[in-house]
Amino acid sequence: MNSDDVRQALDTAFARFKNLDEGQNADYIPVLAQVDPGLFGIAVVTADGRIHTSGDVETEISIQSISKVFTMAQVVQEQGPESIERRIGVDATGARFNSIIAVEAIRTVVGAGAPEMNSLVNPGAIATTSMVLGGSADEVWSKIVGFHGAAAGRQLRVLADVYKSESDTNHRNQAIGALMFAYGYIKSNWQQAVELYTRQCAIGVNARDLGVMAATLAFGGRNPVTGAQVIDASSVPGVLAVMATAGLYDDSGKWLYHTGLPAKSGVGGGIIAVSPGKFGIAAVSPPLDGAGNSVRAQRAITAISNALGGNPFAPNILLV
Ligand code: DON
Repeated sequence: MNSDDVRQALDTAFARFKNLDEGQNADYIPVLAQVDPGLFGIAVVTADGRIHTSGDVETEISIQSISKVFTMAQVVQEQGPESIERRIGVDATGARFNSIIAVEAIRTVVGAGAPEMNSLVNPGAIATTSMVLGGSADEVWSKIVGFHGAAAGRQLRVLADVYKSESDTNHRNQAIGALMFAYGYIKSNWQQAVELYTRQCAIGVNARDLGVMAATLAFGGRNPVTGAQVIDASSVPGVLAVMATAGLYDDSGKWLYHTGLPAKSGVGGGIIAVSPGKFGIAAVSPPLDGAGNSVRAQRAITAISNALGGNPFAPNILLV
């Protein structure tokens, strides 16, 4: 895989999918419905720190659920992989990302082994945010946003309109936070956990940032652009495992079947995917399919990765 291969795979996929007109912007967070559905950008970041791009890789979208990966990584790094496994679990729920039935289902196993939950669906993610250590909400927040920024290689900021729109309408997540507290997964101050979770979901990122964040995971936690070791190498495999099993929600199995890549989507239209040791890739395009995953981003990442031999289950085969 050399730079020309990457260039060609990117150009081919961008041309092929840029006019694909399927899916719809998320609208349960009202402001997301107003984002330009034509926005489309792709970034591939390789071991040498080169950022290969196609389309619009500058316009920011809200990171949404992709943030769950990095807050999980932060807790794994700070408190060890068992902390997440014991408190939250590392299993797919088989339910939608904001399912309350999934919260009820794990209740039956409290104290009887690891819960059937994970950090990449809302209940597990809100509880994971509650685990980030800090003496005040401000301290926890600056750790979370700083960690995301280190993975992206630049200082990141919250998109105020997205934060407000979601804060005004996130009653379901508040209910989930309250239940996770009632059932002992959140130990204190569930309102703070929901608030910080909502803020982390509103962090603004573009396709380039997401590509670098994916590459940080692809290269053992070291950001290949800045050279910073953002995540201990030993904390990365567990995070990738949960991405593989639960990163694209109900469609995680289908995604893995076609790509073999640990990945994570967000309702803002971003997807990151990781080919360990080879590259990080991300695409941004707001229209989503029924499972809540960006249509163009899924198609583009699949085509590019398969053209570059990115599938870890078939490392030397180009699956076109
Ligand atoms: O909590 C929410 O509903 C959003 N902040 C994030 C959801 C999300 O991105 C799910 N992704 N596919």
